[in-house]
Amino acid sequence: MSDIRRALHSWVEDAEAFGIEDVVCPASATPEVGVGAEAEASAPSLAAIAEEVAACTLCGLSETRTRVVPGQGDAGARIMFVGEAPGADEDRQGLAFVGRAGQLLTKMIVAMGFDREEVFIANVLKCRPPANRDPAPAEVACCLPFLKRQIALIEPEILVALGGHAMKNLLQTEASVGRMRGRVHDYDGTPLVVTYHPAFLLRSPDMKRAAWEDLQLVLRTLGLTPPARD
Ligand code: URA
Repeated sequence: MSDIRRALHSWVEDAEAFGIEDVVCPASATPEVGVGAEAEASAPSLAAIAEEVAACTLCGLSETRTRVVPGQGDAGARIMFVGEAPGADEDRQGLAFVGRAGQLLTKMIVAMGFDREEVFIANVLKCRPPANRDPAPAEVACCLPFLKRQIALIEPEILVALGGHAMKNLLQTEASVGRMRGRVHDYDGTPLVVTYHPAFLLRSPDMKRAAWEDLQLVLRTLGLTPPARD
């Protein structure tokens, strides 16, 4: 690891240790390494963003990842789901939400009357945090611009924030998912509905009913009639 990168990585750790709220991506200000996340929003396609993600070394996760997970789905999707970060299965396959939580997300999407291939699925972080720890603020600061550029290109009719990390970083709030779910928020002009993360729903199946209400709200916001469900 180069000296400059070592310094940047220790900065990330310091930022975590001191709980800095308004964190910027340390590498993006450094011409030598600032190639990815802050590159202007001129990428002509999702594939170009995925290539940038694949080459990204802005944070230390680039050293521990197996594969990057840029996100996948229909570039013209009406609905875009945003999760937290890849887990072990996603890190192995380079695809978002393909593990147990992903299987539940697929069921949720199908229950809405959509195919997985018709929506777009992405995460706040494009690389797996070791041992699935929470994303560090500086990692988010480096990676979030990729997600924002994906959203700007796809222009979904609605965003679904899956869990607290997606919600917090898209809506800039410290509120709980429980407080923010059940209504339509605004992300830069795009309606956004918050619901529980599928991994949480696997641990707390009682909350699936509330999540289904959120997904029904997504459908109604799109002008669709939610399918009847027993
Ligand atoms: N959890 C997430 O937030 N994203 C994935 O891609 C997988 C699990």
